[in-house]
Amino acid sequence: MLAKPWIFWSVSTNFCAVRAASALPHGVLPLIESNTFLLRKEFRLSLLSRFSHDLAIDLGTANTCVFARGKGIVVSEPSIVAINKTNGRIEAVGTDAKEMLGRTPGNIVAIKPMKDGVIADFEAAEKMLAHFIRKAHRRSGWLRPRVVIGVPSEITQVERRAVKDSAMRAKASEVHLIEEAMAAAIGAGMPITEASGNMVVDIGGGTTDIAVISLAGVVYGKSVRIAGNELDEAIILHARKVHNLLIGERTAERIKIEVGSAYPIEGRLTIEVKGRHMTEGKPKTVTMDDEEIRCAMADPVRSIVQAVHDALERIPPELSADIFDRGIILTGGGSLLKNLDKRLRDETGLPVQLAEDPLSSVVLGAGKMLSDFNLLRRISLD
Ligand SMILES: Nc1ncnc2c1ncn2[C@@H]1O[C@H](COP(=O)(O)OP(=O)(O)OP(=O)(O)O)[C@@H](O)[C@H]1O
Ligand SMILES: [Mg+2]
Repeated sequence: MLAKPWIFWSVSTNFCAVRAASALPHGVLPLIESNTFLLRKEFRLSLLSRFSHDLAIDLGTANTCVFARGKGIVVSEPSIVAINKTNGRIEAVGTDAKEMLGRTPGNIVAIKPMKDGVIADFEAAEKMLAHFIRKAHRRSGWLRPRVVIGVPSEITQVERRAVKDSAMRAKASEVHLIEEAMAAAIGAGMPITEASGNMVVDIGGGTTDIAVISLAGVVYGKSVRIAGNELDEAIILHARKVHNLLIGERTAERIKIEVGSAYPIEGRLTIEVKGRHMTEGKPKTVTMDDEEIRCAMADPVRSIVQAVHDALERIPPELSADIFDRGIILTGGGSLLKNLDKRLRDETGLPVQLAEDPLSSVVLGAGKMLSDFNLLRRISLD
C-alpha cells in the first residue's frame, strides 16, 4: 500500500532533477547528475520491490527463518541439510533433515552448514538457502528476490562475503546484510532511531549478540560464541561424566528445553533420559532433575551473564542511564531458557524483559527493512 506513492514520488523527482540539470550552469551538473543517478537507483529499487517478492532471512546456526514481504514468516525450520554422499543429492532440508540427525544410514550425512552464526560449510549452506528461497518464493519463480540477511556483529569481511555470495548464487537479485542484534531490536519493537540507549541481548544457538543501539547505530556491539548449543553440549558432557550415558544432541536439547533453567524454579522438574550406557553398551534410562541440569549448564550460563555485565561496563554513561530506566530486551531461542530473565534481573539489577516472539525477532526486524529502504540504507553493513 505504501510503495505506490513512493514510486510516483521517485518518478516525478527523477524527472524534475533531469529537467533542472539541463538548466543549471556548468559545475553544478555533476552534483545533480550524481543525485539523478541515486534517484534512478532508488527508482529501480522501488520498482523492484513493487514487483518482486522481497525476502528477509535469519540464517541462524540453529534455525533459518524467511519472511516474505506481504506474507509474513513463510519458513521457520532447522538449519540442517541431509545429503546423499553417493550421488551428492539433497535428501532432506530443515525439519525433515533434523528428524534424520543421528539416525542416518552410512550414505547419508546430516550437515549443519552454520556454526557460531557463520557459514561453516559453503556448499551445504548454499543448497539450504536455495531450497528455502525457492520454498518462500514458490509462486513467483522467475523473479529474483531482493534479500535482507541478519548476520552476527563480529563476523569478518570474508564471512560477510561468503553469506552474500551464497545468497546471490541462490538466485537473489541483491543482498543487504544487517547486524542480527539491530534486526532483533527492530523486530522486538525497540525505538532504535531515537537518541536514547536500547539494549538487546539475542541468545541464539551459536552466538549471543549483545548490542546497545541509539540513533539507528550500534554504540556497543559484542558477539560471543556461547549460546544454546553450548548448553546442549554441557548436558551431553554431564550425562557422560556423571551417568556414563551417551546421549545425542537432540536429546540434550529436549532436556534443556523441558527441565533446564538459569535460576532455581518453583517445584521440581524431572525427565526420563534414554541413552546408551558407556560400559554396559546397552540402552539405559536415567532420571534427571532441574537442579542437576542447572548445575550441568552453570558454566555457559555464567559466560552469557558475564557478557552482559561486560557490555554494561563499557557503554557511555548517558546511555547507561537510559538502560537503567528502560532495561534490557532478550530475544533469540536461548532466551526462552527458564528463569534466564530472572537471573539477569537479579544479577544486573535492571529491568529485563523477554521479546514477544523471541525466536522470530531477527527475521521480523529484517522483514521490516523490506518496506523501509531509508532505514535499511542507514543500518546496512555494506
Ligand atoms: N524453550 C527453550 N528453552 C531453552 N532454549 C530454547 C528453547 N527454545 C529454543 N531454544 C534454543 O534456542 C536456540 C535456537 O535459537 P535461535 O533460533 O534464536 O538461534 P539461531 O538464530 O538459529 O542461532 P544464532 O543466532 O546463534 O545463529 C537453540 O539452541 C534452542 O535449543
Ligand atoms: Mg539468531
